[in-house]
Amino acid sequence: MLDLLLKRRSCREFEDRPVEPQKTQKILQAAQLAPSGKNTRPWEFIVIENKETLQKLGNCRAPSQPFLPKAPLAIVVLGDTAKADTWVEDASIASVIMQLEAQSLGLGSCWVQIRLRQSNQGMSSEDYVRKLLGIPEHLAVLDILAVGYPAKSLPAHTMEEVTPEKIHRETY
Ligand SMILES: Cc1cc2nc3c(=O)[nH]c(=O)nc-3n(C[C@H](O)[C@H](O)[C@H](O)COP(=O)(O)O)c2cc1C
Repeated sequence: MLDLLLKRRSCREFEDRPVEPQKTQKILQAAQLAPSGKNTRPWEFIVIENKETLQKLGNCRAPSQPFLPKAPLAIVVLGDTAKADTWVEDASIASVIMQLEAQSLGLGSCWVQIRLRQSNQGMSSEDYVRKLLGIPEHLAVLDILAVGYPAKSLPAHTMEEVTPEKIHRETY
């Protein structure tokens, strides 16, 4: 696991080849095996592979996220705010679990923040994505994961980034 975590980097350049449906399936299965507050599993996901939709999703943030339309796959992560007051935590954990599963399958991914951000279309990122994809009001949009085969490999993290100063024992 540490090895996987060292090698995982946010991927913003993708090869021009699709993600195999079996791999997409595994990523979505991984998400739904994540822990959640009171086991409420308040998440839902929208899988986007349509090029035109991916192109439009690129406008979900100001400044735009130009790598998003270039990804062969985007997974929009939603949280049911009525189902769980821990929906942000739950949907975040599911997102990261998907990133790790993607990494384990030889894929790269990048988190695109939607919650609390603005689109380049004069509305919030959330409203823009909601309108584009027809998302019902009871579901909040947390993030979008761009997923695909990395076109460029970034240097792995190193153990030098792991700082003992962050760790306190017994008391602060
Ligand atoms: C909550 C959260 C929000 C993020 N939002 C964005 C984003 O909107 N756009 C982006 O390109 N990367 C985004 N990232 C990726 C971070 O920039 C990246 O994880 C961080 O710089 C560390 O780099 P690494 O992932 O390669 O280790 C986000 C990551 C997290 C966890």
